[in-house]
Amino acid sequence: MPPFESVQAHESKLYAELSYLYDVIFTRIFAPRIHRVIRSLQIPPGARVLEVGVGTGLSLDAYPHHAEVIGIDLAPEMLDKAEEKARRHGWRHIKLLQMDALNLKFDNDSFDFVTAFHVISVVPDAQRLMKEILRVLRPHGTLAIVNHFRSTNRFFAALDNLIEPITLRLGWHTLDLREVLHGAPLELLELYKTNRRSLFTILVARNAKEARTRASFSSVPSSYREQRESTPAS
Ligand SMILES: C[S@@+](CC[C@H](N)C(=O)[O-])C[C@H]1O[C@@H](n2cnc3c(N)ncnc32)[C@H](O)[C@@H]1O
Repeated sequence: MPPFESVQAHESKLYAELSYLYDVIFTRIFAPRIHRVIRSLQIPPGARVLEVGVGTGLSLDAYPHHAEVIGIDLAPEMLDKAEEKARRHGWRHIKLLQMDALNLKFDNDSFDFVTAFHVISVVPDAQRLMKEILRVLRPHGTLAIVNHFRSTNRFFAALDNLIEPITLRLGWHTLDLREVLHGAPLELLELYKTNRRSLFTILVARNAKEARTRASFSSVPSSYREQRESTPAS
């Protein structure tokens, strides 16, 4: 694999070290929510999809076979697990590549959908990641994010601050959703949690670059809409 000198060590090192344990720990916690989000996108036949930070490929079996899916990740050890899944299932619609999400090697407007699950907090520059995502996503293309963001509840926000020194050591920043999306040309379609106690927020938005109506993120209500039904993943 080529060296990725420009990348900070913790970004992939932690996951390289964790890769053998990752599915054991996170499949039950992450996969149901990710699958539900992917299904909700109703990806049509022929669509091109990019997943950034695909990791071990917990998401892969949720993508429809009629789409062309590219998953990229920095850590070869994580990608090896994803490759193994793709090989085992014979998923020919899925291609996996080692790549830095902050320097995507794709042309502008290359994808109809971009997904980013539990990765925005892991890269050192979340705004740059957003910029790269919106560059490769075509105008009106759909972005889906699942991530933990700083709580809008004062008590839980204080708790986020308290545990931040620990999460930082794990290479995990607690981000403010508004700061991440500030200035991004996005038309918000959905912003919700699967249940009230969930640590994770789901955001689905349309790329409004070069579109006539630009929605500003400041128009989003301060508390997230809560989805009525809940899932076992929270
Ligand atoms: C918490 S894991 C999430 C994996 C997967 N999306 C999931 O939900 O199970 C974060 C992933 O982001 C990857 N990653 C970190 N920095 C990256 C970067 N700059 N470019 C691409 N992938 C990166 C890590 O290697 C790791 O696989």
